[in-house]
Amino acid sequence: MAAGRIVLGIESSCDETGAGIVSQGRLLAHAVASSMDEHARFGGVVPEIAARAHLHSFTPVVRRALDQAGLKLSDIGAVAVTTGPGLSGALQVGVAGAKTLAYELDVPLYGVHHLAGHVAADTLEHGPLPDPCVVLIVSGGHTSLLLVRDLARDPIVHLGDTLDDAAGECFDKVARVFGLPYPGGPAIDRAARSGDPRAVAFPRPLTGPKDDPYAFSFSGLKTAAARWAEGHAGRDLLVADGAASLQEAVADVLTRKALAACRDHGVGTLVVVGGVAANSRVRTLAEERCAAAGVRLRVPPMTLCTDNGAMIAAVGDLLVRSGAEPAPWDVSIDPSAPLAYAALQPRAATARAA
Ligand code: KG4
Ligand code: ZN
Repeated sequence: MAAGRIVLGIESSCDETGAGIVSQGRLLAHAVASSMDEHARFGGVVPEIAARAHLHSFTPVVRRALDQAGLKLSDIGAVAVTTGPGLSGALQVGVAGAKTLAYELDVPLYGVHHLAGHVAADTLEHGPLPDPCVVLIVSGGHTSLLLVRDLARDPIVHLGDTLDDAAGECFDKVARVFGLPYPGGPAIDRAARSGDPRAVAFPRPLTGPKDDPYAFSFSGLKTAAARWAEGHAGRDLLVADGAASLQEAVADVLTRKALAACRDHGVGTLVVVGGVAANSRVRTLAEERCAAAGVRLRVPPMTLCTDNGAMIAAVGDLLVRSGAEPAPWDVSIDPSAPLAYAALQPRAATARAA
């Protein structure tokens, strides 16, 4: 029966190969292999290296997830895979692998939007999302404030997006200028622990009375942090203070706008997801401000904030249970897919028309 299917989710959009197994909203297992260390000496993800690493990790990671759950491949009733957005070579490996498995098992295949996966990650820890909820997605490539209703069925409403850099990108690039290791976000978080968040008065972009209340901009903040670092060149660069002040500015802007969205739309739940939701200051400031505003805060556990296969399986499971149409066998990747629906199957319309 469709509703009781066990869903295998595959994620390979960037540098993490993830396999997750979910059934009826319950996480049964997940395994991740990261090629992060292979990119570290280049200071950023090298697409070809990421794609090759996915190829090496795909089968072992799927096997690890199955072993963890105590399941056989033949127990899998549906396969969900990230079809975009992401690095094209990396996505290709995951989609080819997922198609092979689904075809071999003769089970339906679902194409999933990576960011919808980040949203669904939270359901594995805290149960179904309330309708409606405000979702703040903060990852390495995206920063958006969304109004989410039924994730499997309804269109996702964008209240605001970043006009330039994503919050994670800002952390990653500034970390480089500060001489901190890749990936920059966690390095800034660590360095900030011994710094003073009030040491440097970094700007709070787009928070003026005439600014779009839900739009973000992080490139000016990135430049301000880089200038500050240059201005301290040759002297003792107080990296900890710079990191703490930058983190404070990012956390302040993100949470301020997210709470304004909840207030303006009369929404009682804020969900913060994506890699930057792992940031300690983003988490505590969101907690403080939500408590003060009487808004319920939901943030996935750290391991489900960064890229993983469980979040893709979670979307697949929601799609199966909502009776969504599976993807056609010729479903393709969409490296720059905008987030409009959780199911991402760019070729579906053509295939059905044919
Ligand atoms: O969601 P994610 O794993 O991948 C994308 O879809 O982009 O997010 C990765 C981003 C990177 O920019 C990384 O530096 C950031 O999340 N990140 C953090 C932390 N952990 C990961 N940023 C700040 N503090 C952290 N603790
Ligand atoms: Zn991601």
